[in-house]
Amino acid sequence: MNLQADRPAHSAVGMAIPHESAAGHVTGTALYTDDLAGRSSGALHAWPVQAPHAHARVLAIDTDQAVQVPGVVRVLTAADIPGTNDAGTKNDEPLLPTEVMYHGHAVCWVLGETLEAARLGARAVHVDYEALDSLLTLTEAIETGSFQGEAPTVARGEAGRALAQAPRRFSGGFEFGGQEHFYLETHAALAHLDEAGQVFVQSSTQHPTETQEIVAHVLGLAGHEVTVQSLRMGGGFGGKEMQPHGLAAIAALGAVLTGRPVRLRLNRTQDITMTGKRHPFHATWDVGFDDDGQLVALQATITADGGWALDLSQPVLSRALCHIENAYYIPHIEVHGRIAKTHKTSQTAFRGFGGPQGMLVIEDILGRCAPALGIEPGELRRRNLYQPGQLTPYGQEVRHAERLATIWEQLTDNADVEARRVQIEAFNAARTHTKRALAITPVKFGISFNFTAFNQAGALVHVYKDGSVLINHGGTEMGQGLHTKMLQIAATELGVPLSRVRLAPTRTDKVPNTSATAASSGSDLNGGAVQNACAQIRERLATVAAHALHAHPHDVRFAGGRVGVIGQTGSGRTDVTADPERELDFHDVVLEAYFQRVPLFAAGYYRTEGIHFDSARMQGSPFKYFAYGAAVSEVEVDGFTGAYRFLRTDIVHDVGDSLSPLVDIGQIEGGFVQGAGWLTLEELLWDTSDGEQRGRVTTGGASTYKLPSFSEMPAELNVHLLPRAKETGVVYGSKAVGEPPLMLAFSIREALRTAVAAFGPAGHSVQLASPATPEAVFWAIQDARGAGRDSAGELLTTAAAQESVTGAGSDAGSRAT
Ligand code: MTE
Ligand code: MOS
Repeated sequence: MNLQADRPAHSAVGMAIPHESAAGHVTGTALYTDDLAGRSSGALHAWPVQAPHAHARVLAIDTDQAVQVPGVVRVLTAADIPGTNDAGTKNDEPLLPTEVMYHGHAVCWVLGETLEAARLGARAVHVDYEALDSLLTLTEAIETGSFQGEAPTVARGEAGRALAQAPRRFSGGFEFGGQEHFYLETHAALAHLDEAGQVFVQSSTQHPTETQEIVAHVLGLAGHEVTVQSLRMGGGFGGKEMQPHGLAAIAALGAVLTGRPVRLRLNRTQDITMTGKRHPFHATWDVGFDDDGQLVALQATITADGGWALDLSQPVLSRALCHIENAYYIPHIEVHGRIAKTHKTSQTAFRGFGGPQGMLVIEDILGRCAPALGIEPGELRRRNLYQPGQLTPYGQEVRHAERLATIWEQLTDNADVEARRVQIEAFNAARTHTKRALAITPVKFGISFNFTAFNQAGALVHVYKDGSVLINHGGTEMGQGLHTKMLQIAATELGVPLSRVRLAPTRTDKVPNTSATAASSGSDLNGGAVQNACAQIRERLATVAAHALHAHPHDVRFAGGRVGVIGQTGSGRTDVTADPERELDFHDVVLEAYFQRVPLFAAGYYRTEGIHFDSARMQGSPFKYFAYGAAVSEVEVDGFTGAYRFLRTDIVHDVGDSLSPLVDIGQIEGGFVQGAGWLTLEELLWDTSDGEQRGRVTTGGASTYKLPSFSEMPAELNVHLLPRAKETGVVYGSKAVGEPPLMLAFSIREALRTAVAAFGPAGHSVQLASPATPEAVFWAIQDARGAGRDSAGELLTTAAAQESVTGAGSDAGSRAT
């Protein structure tokens, strides 16, 4: 199947093929970092000594008893670090700290012959701590003024004046939770030295180059003395963009000090208690509408909980600010951002990278204001969608904004929205304790790294004499199907069957100075580089073939493993000629090129053109394009318990001309479900008591942290790719797909809100905690029912109705806990 007519016939690009490792994934033959350790004999195991305080000074570490434990080889402490004791890029993340900054912070590591020896050794390490005061919640941090990093503002127009004049004005606040990545493969690294003392680290990392840089930094080595390989990850979701570095450095340090391979793999609880998560946010806002429900102004302050160190908090906040308006035009806007510093793990990238948090603010505002405005929430959203030619608050034109309306229409048609609304009304009218609702929400997500320099990539493509092809590129595979797409691009560019192309593991000694595989830009960037490398080789081969075929190199075409000359076919289409006299086998051309001493490998390079951003002023055009989508979800809520079911979700999503439709549909389904998990079930809790456990993550495993599973999938899930969606200037007209679909899950949250509202009187504005756990939904239903009783007694005036969305900052949040 090839969905795109304007691509070469039988082109591998656009073909619906399975993930290149699908069989390996399901049969267990696909290897991950720690599996490789199992194959390297004599590797030592590393186990952390985790501090039992949220904040403390380390007075002394006594390792005497630990090294007596049978099988313990060595304890790694700060004194052993030959280079710089820092695991981050901001100089604020001591690898082995003298000040404990969160409960579970590793103060030293024990190396053992077995995992058990290392574990027992860690238990025998005696650490003297002086406990210090700690800040755990966003509210505490805001009250005490505990912030870190910069506090940028995105602004346009005169928000204050426009608000003062707005016919309808509301204000409110809201605090919402983060998310644990819960990748199936926890963090892992395996380090060993070669005969010259150079360090080779296998790491489950989305960012091999930065892992290499940090390992070199910690060991005091030059970049060329450290090689990092990322074979594949069992999920990263942003959690392996920065967090692997320190762990790789510990393994490498152990290898340097002992001369033996060192393997490090966190168990689930260690992973949850030691590594960063999605940032929780706090938001306060003031919004104005005209009488038709058109947004006129927004003033807001959003505060990200960064945890103990900066990590990626600044770019995450920047993306939150650049997505605060989601798909809606807001003429006057002023949004301030800041990062709280708390004694928790250092929060980090997570699918959407702050975008979801920014967008949740406007979706919450619209969901809460719609009843007060007397406009159906979906209609309120539709009226405010960007129109072609409008600019974002940071000054970028919303190119192809008309797709938002197109998607909206297709979705409401596909999903039969109008008819179902009528059915839902009848269903609800007949029941007191069960209510259904559906909600439709849009997504607009900017693609490219906000930081312009990261938008570059490299590749290295080899063609061997037999015509087989090996590609290296700088992107990493975490299940998202990047490698599958790269194979499809190389096969298409060189006109060879997919089976002739193989992909080699991602390594820093093959392609240097790479960017993280993140910001959904993996296939745009690396695809551009692979395409560029293949095009160079193809042009060289075209010259060789042209000579043999007595043609001009411009007329030579590569397809299906054959090299031919362009001609007129019967249909009048220019195509590879049918004349077999003027066709050669790809491998014959390759061999001939070899004999003519034409190089058969090439380094490819790509950089995204036309983007710029001034992060101090928060103005520019940081994104190559926007990915669009919309979803409509129907839910059913039980009024006795707050329990709910997801009945049906329909999605229309814009992936441009899909490079790989099965992969893209998988990404859309997976992103949507992960977003639904964040917004409904996944609740991270910390012990905030003043007791001994203060600061401990209390949701340290699958038994206490509820992930969506089959039973939480919508009973019916229909995904459609927006047809005829070619995006110019991107590889094969495609668009990024990794993160944007996560935010389609707002439709679930808004459907829950609408279903809750159905338990109360018309016009009741529902405040819903996030995550909207069944417990939170239960309390929201109680509120809705209470509002019903109030309004029976005293009629609400318009002014009072406006007040009704004015909630104190964390009301909804605190209610749920
Ligand atoms: N899909 C799977 N299966 N596993 C993952 O870890 N990570 C997501 C997304 N999809 C992820 C995934 C995140 S956070 C990003 S940024 C993109 O994939 C990165 O890959 P891409 O740029 O190749 O889309
Ligand atoms: Mo994705 S959060 O950009 O790794």
